[in-house]
Amino acid sequence: MFDGTVIDALSLYRDIIDKKNVENDRIVNFVSTSINKIKSDTNTWLDNVLNYKVSMHVGNTSLINSFILSIALGIKINLSYENLIKLGISSFLHDSGMERLPDVLSIKNDSTLGEATKKQIVNHPIISFKIIKNELRLATDVAGAVLSHHEQWDGSGYPHHLSGNNINIYSRIISITDSFDSMISYRSYKSKIIGYKAIKQLLENSSTQFDPSLISEFIHMLGVFPIGSYVAMKDNRIGKVIDINSENLLRPKVLVSNINGLDEIIDLSIDKDNYILKAITGEE
Ligand SMILES: [Fe+2]
Repeated sequence: MFDGTVIDALSLYRDIIDKKNVENDRIVNFVSTSINKIKSDTNTWLDNVLNYKVSMHVGNTSLINSFILSIALGIKINLSYENLIKLGISSFLHDSGMERLPDVLSIKNDSTLGEATKKQIVNHPIISFKIIKNELRLATDVAGAVLSHHEQWDGSGYPHHLSGNNINIYSRIISITDSFDSMISYRSYKSKIIGYKAIKQLLENSSTQFDPSLISEFIHMLGVFPIGSYVAMKDNRIGKVIDINSENLLRPKVLVSNINGLDEIIDLSIDKDNYILKAITGEE
């Protein structure tokens, strides 16, 4: 199911970038189908964000991951279906302007992210805005959301230095999900970090870069040890986080494989003798 969504996403995205007369219905149908899938099995989709590794979409993880996380967060905060569609389209296309930058290929491979590259990159929200407004003629608030996705809560973002609730709510969501994805993904100019550390960094930047109430919702959705991440426990076993415990985010449900090959679910909110020692990478 996930593979199919990724393939549909990439072909739709490519057609939009290549100006292939994409009907709005195709975009809405794709987003609406994705919302239904994510709603029906949210934790599996969140797990995919941290663990889905297919070489064909390296370089497009932000497209997929930020899209899934944004919709999941929209569901968590009870956005209406109509607003979920708008949020989904905004998150799907927020970086489309990057693909139209004059030196897009060299920018993607620029390991230093020098000044000239940065100057080009700051234009991408405006180009994304134009794609949505002038080419796709989608709703004004969708175009506005894309335009503002690099604004920051304290007004230090770009392009218009908006702050607080003056920033479109979809943009505030995308800002969080895009940053989280960027931290957990490899880029040519940086290595990746594990989900637990990414959550920590989001918290450190709550109220400066990000909307604090949305950060709180995001962490109550994904957990301190995010769903899909690997943890070492006090009883020396290693497991994968499969669900949060909203009463105690440090005590999620963890799936472990025992020596006999049978999977076991440990609910750390019940098994009080056991606890998580540390978050680890999936390779450890
Ligand atoms: Fe961006």
